[in-house]
Amino acid sequence: MTAQVIDGKAIAAALRARLAAEVALLPFRPRLVVILVGDDPASSVYVRNKRKAAAEVGFADGTERLAADTSEATLLARIAALNADPEVDGILVQLPLPAHIRAEAVTAAIDPAKDVDGFHPLNAGHLAIGRPTLVPCTPKGVMTLLAAAGVPLAGARAVVLGRSTIVGRPMAALLTLADATVTLAHSRTRDLAAECRRADILVAAVGRPGMVRGDWVAPGAAVIDVGINRTADRTLVGDVAYAEAAPHAGWITPVPGGVGPMTIATLLENTVAAATARRRT
Ligand code: GUN
Repeated sequence: MTAQVIDGKAIAAALRARLAAEVALLPFRPRLVVILVGDDPASSVYVRNKRKAAAEVGFADGTERLAADTSEATLLARIAALNADPEVDGILVQLPLPAHIRAEAVTAAIDPAKDVDGFHPLNAGHLAIGRPTLVPCTPKGVMTLLAAAGVPLAGARAVVLGRSTIVGRPMAALLTLADATVTLAHSRTRDLAAECRRADILVAAVGRPGMVRGDWVAPGAAVIDVGINRTADRTLVGDVAYAEAAPHAGWITPVPGGVGPMTIATLLENTVAAATARRRT
């Protein structure tokens, strides 16, 4: 079997082109405010990429950098001001935050209608009860990849590795909504390899380089690698041992160029959706 490589870079570019065409027809320019607290190098790269992609699809500029010693109260006051600003459509506070700021407090402070990350408890709850509103970007982007590749979901056995609030849990909820039979596996799962071998769709989101081995992949399975890990020699690798897994898989996403580009494109998609919904009401 030769896996079909799912080209996330191309699928993300097509989504951005569609969004740019939509934005050009709007009577306003959507404004996404991305807040970076401190200067974590990885976060700085993500924020720069978000800013560039937002400009490309015609958004108004809105990146804000705050010093690493910004207090939680100052950040919450800034969020309150952005919530009240009618020209602001989406608010994203880049994670991780410095240790003295509680991420839950920040997440809960964002107006749910502007929560383009989909992390607010209200939006997470809507997804959990099967009425999705704004949905976390990475798992939503994975659903777009699966649809673009034509992977059948209804009735399929899906195994999600990792139960984070950013990826694993919302991923399991979205696959359930698409009528897959979902197992949410994690570090305490007994015999992870055996669970994975049952999967028609395997989504790895654990942050451990090469953890999913070739013999964990059922023949013909769709293997989606959410991991972005930097090795000692600075190369990027996923959670899946790609060279081992690809000969077994029916579909596979590369790292880089798979899930990664979808996250930002989906953030823009969420921002357009938030902008049109809020400015209409
Ligand atoms: N850090 C890593 N991924 C994300 C994300 O999806 N949203 C935010 N806000 N921070 C992140």
